Amino acid sequence: MLPIIGALRPWADPTMTSLLRLPMRARPAAEGDRRLSLDGTWSFRLFPSPDQVPADAVRGERAPGQWQSVDVPGSWPVQVADDIPHYTNIQMPFAEPPPRLPSRNPTGVYRTGFDVPSHWEGQRLLLHVGGADSVHAVYLNGVFVGYGTDARLGSEYDVTEAARVGRNQLAVVVVRYSAHSFLEDQDGWWLAGLHRGVRVEARPPVGLVDLDARADLDPRSGEGSLDVRATVDFGESTAAEGYRVRVSLSGRDGAGVAGPQDAPVPHAVNNTYEFSGHIARLHRDGLRILPWSAETPTLYEVAAELIDPAGDVVDATRVRVGFRRVEIDGPDFLVNGRRVWIFGVNRHDHHPDTGAAVTAEDMRADLAAMRRMNINAIRTSHYPNDPAFYDLCDELGFYVVDEANIESHAFNWYLCGDPRYRATWLERGARMVARDRNHPCVVQWSLGNESGYGVNHDALAGWIRRADRSRPLHYEDAIRNSGWTDGGRHATDVVCPMYPGIEEIRAYGEQVAAGAADRPLIMCEYSHAMGNSNGSLADYWDVITSTPGLQGGFIWEWKDHGLRQRLPDGTTRLAYGGQFGDAPHDANFVADGLVSADVEPHPGTAEVAWVYRPVTTEYVDGGLYVTNRRRFAGTGDLAAGWELLLDGAPSASGTLDVPDIAPGGSVAVPLPADAARAGAAQALLTITWRTRTESWFAPAGHPVAWDQLALRDGRTAPGPPVNGAVAVPGETADDPVPNVWRAATDNDGLKLMEHIVRVREMGSRTLIRWRDAGLDTRPAHEIVDHTVSVSRSESGADYRHRFEVPDEAADLPRVGVLFRVDPRFDRFVWFGRGPHENYPDRNRSAMLGRWSSHVEPSPYLVPQEFGLRTGTLWLELIDDDRGDRLRLTSLGGDFCWSATRYAPQALFAAGNASDLREDGRLVVCLDAAHRGVGTGACGPDVLPEYRIGPGRYELAYRMELVPAVQGVAGAPPHPQDSSRAASGGGSQCKDRHVG
Ligand code: GAL
Ligand code: MG
Repeated sequence: MLPIIGALRPWADPTMTSLLRLPMRARPAAEGDRRLSLDGTWSFRLFPSPDQVPADAVRGERAPGQWQSVDVPGSWPVQVADDIPHYTNIQMPFAEPPPRLPSRNPTGVYRTGFDVPSHWEGQRLLLHVGGADSVHAVYLNGVFVGYGTDARLGSEYDVTEAARVGRNQLAVVVVRYSAHSFLEDQDGWWLAGLHRGVRVEARPPVGLVDLDARADLDPRSGEGSLDVRATVDFGESTAAEGYRVRVSLSGRDGAGVAGPQDAPVPHAVNNTYEFSGHIARLHRDGLRILPWSAETPTLYEVAAELIDPAGDVVDATRVRVGFRRVEIDGPDFLVNGRRVWIFGVNRHDHHPDTGAAVTAEDMRADLAAMRRMNINAIRTSHYPNDPAFYDLCDELGFYVVDEANIESHAFNWYLCGDPRYRATWLERGARMVARDRNHPCVVQWSLGNESGYGVNHDALAGWIRRADRSRPLHYEDAIRNSGWTDGGRHATDVVCPMYPGIEEIRAYGEQVAAGAADRPLIMCEYSHAMGNSNGSLADYWDVITSTPGLQGGFIWEWKDHGLRQRLPDGTTRLAYGGQFGDAPHDANFVADGLVSADVEPHPGTAEVAWVYRPVTTEYVDGGLYVTNRRRFAGTGDLAAGWELLLDGAPSASGTLDVPDIAPGGSVAVPLPADAARAGAAQALLTITWRTRTESWFAPAGHPVAWDQLALRDGRTAPGPPVNGAVAVPGETADDPVPNVWRAATDNDGLKLMEHIVRVREMGSRTLIRWRDAGLDTRPAHEIVDHTVSVSRSESGADYRHRFEVPDEAADLPRVGVLFRVDPRFDRFVWFGRGPHENYPDRNRSAMLGRWSSHVEPSPYLVPQEFGLRTGTLWLELIDDDRGDRLRLTSLGGDFCWSATRYAPQALFAAGNASDLREDGRLVVCLDAAHRGVGTGACGPDVLPEYRIGPGRYELAYRMELVPAVQGVAGAPPHPQDSSRAASGGGSQCKDRHVG
């Protein structure tokens, strides 16, 4: 039995939040030779339950042979063979009701050794466990030194008594499931282990234990003020008179902004009634500083020194601060007095190889990719992140909604009122605030996620409101059931719904306009990015930017949580729920990110970058009207260029002369001369804003904003000159057959969880309806009436299809044709929307133009429809080796098309990218109509205007083969390929036009 806690069994008791744990602090870790990292390879042993861990596992010598090696930080289910990752969304991974635990409850004992240097003698020694999932106990040299809960916050223990100079033996016992797991029921992998770093620190016997530095900005005067509270611990000694804390403020270049100032440390503990703690307090105002914002992340440093009565500095620390004010003024959320757009995303700590353990480099890579998509705000769904994350957000400039590690989703109307869970509720929120309060990036505190709304929330809200008056509260379930206008006011200052429809938020904005609602609406989750998704993102923002009270939201979510799995044949794949043998599970609902687990952007990220663009350009009154949507920075860092397309052909380009536009300002700019003069039926002007210099997130020339303006809207776009077209032989292309099926997207229905969709109202039922109608198996001509006339000539064939969609078949995936083509035609040039994949409700980022791409791999973890391009007037499939081209030219309106290596049936049949089988031929689809993608996996389905109603559809095109001209390169010039262009959020505008 484990010493001390073996009998107590605290893991089974929700009221026991910790034993011997020190209070949370904002003071950063000690530096230099006062700190010893224990990260690295540790010995590890797994037991079936905490009750079965023998005392000798944490004491004395390690029994030979029984230990394996693991990395710390790390999650053991992705490191050892005898336990597995387990994915569930709402349901718990085991059946027992709270607070009961399953009898099989894997418990890991971690052991390592470390040397305490002799110069640490006489110091206080602290052991810091960065994050242990779910609960942990620490033994040093066989002595129990403490127990802690909350998998996503650090725990610190005083180990001075147990430690000794020289070699020390450390054991950390981590229990996989605890009574607290019921509050850690976030949608994600259940992992376990020491997923954040472990270290030892030496602190002087009388030292600074905490440093709170609140930097405020008066938006009117522009002056800063600073409130510092430095907490001193006298340890075993009696508090003596004469200690002082000296505080100074300096800019990042080290230049002093406010010279040192001293404050006494109150010592008179016996001065009953008057004594208010050993806390030195200091206030400075009238500071001439530069404000912090996500656009201008200027930081300062507060240095604090503890000076003893003899005048010697006995301890010192420093924290970074940013001067800024966040407040809610009526229906507006303000930063430094200005209303900012929340271009947000939800982010989990996830890595495909290490699970919950992420490094500062991983986090920086996430943030750089986000900034390339113009994201400026992050909700730390659904728990406090690694401390390094907040340092990065301070420095790089992101607004953060910091969320407490509270989600009781499976029991959300139960535990929020359960007194046994009250203490842990409070601890989780209060410790988060205590840790993160100095960070300027944190602009709201979130009480957690999906935990109902009960007295435990109000207790936590009350604590935070008093402890930190400088930030508003955020909690979604407080408004979910009691209404957006008045619901949950005690627990949330913002109306932060998840997955509302566009009409719902518009209606709320109208109430704001009518004075009937007074809180800002910022969606805590929207535009669920599962698979081929993010339909109508731009439609959301049309309403957000034109309706009072609406300020943006956080897309769900940043990254797929695929975990790398080695298959028996030695290959690897990214796996989702159930693929490790975990049960019960929620399959691929864990893969719903804008980027893959390896941070490969999905095509929808181009739309995110466009919708979140910081500069917009409109065509107004015969000129350009440019608006800077930033609120604190000008546009001087960006250069604008223009490109003119006349009747579908690139005609001229140049740079646009625009003055530096003030934050929030707009300017009118005359049209470039060529554009103003041009006489053509269709004139399209594209304005692109690029960074002038290299930055932390992108090289110089990165496109941050683009708009295409139709100066004249006639629709003509002739293809390349006709040069010797011939009829298409059968081996080049089969005859097109009608096609109404697409490999269902995750938003059409969760194909791997059809039973769940049927039983629990999860996801969209569209797929069930389609399958019931036999769309995936029956030939299309049995579903819709199809007639075709073909007129063949020596130079090709003209196809004219007519489809009648009967009422009962309405809302089809698509209406069009499918044909297979010789796979050597693997490059595509077209005039239409591009260059990246786009769909009718996700194509505003896709400009009309002549684009080029290569046949693309399937971009989604679970294979599904992909690769469509809308608004196309002609398309050439090119064999670059031989130089011949298969040309498809519209004889009527525009069409949508895709050309991939996969038949829709093969995409639909495959459960994972690793199961996907290529077709022998290139599979080409041409559509007269294609359904939008919506976000039906979790949120509104496709809007009516992007669905396929009953009635007549026509598709007419010429198909011809253009052979290579002997001795002359037949194919158009080979522009930079765009197949990867959608990646990187917005780089798609660069050099993709085919001249
Ligand atoms: C929300 C929840 C998220 C995630 C999402 C669906 O209800 O807050 O954690 O489960 O739905 O992917
Ligand atoms: Mg949940």
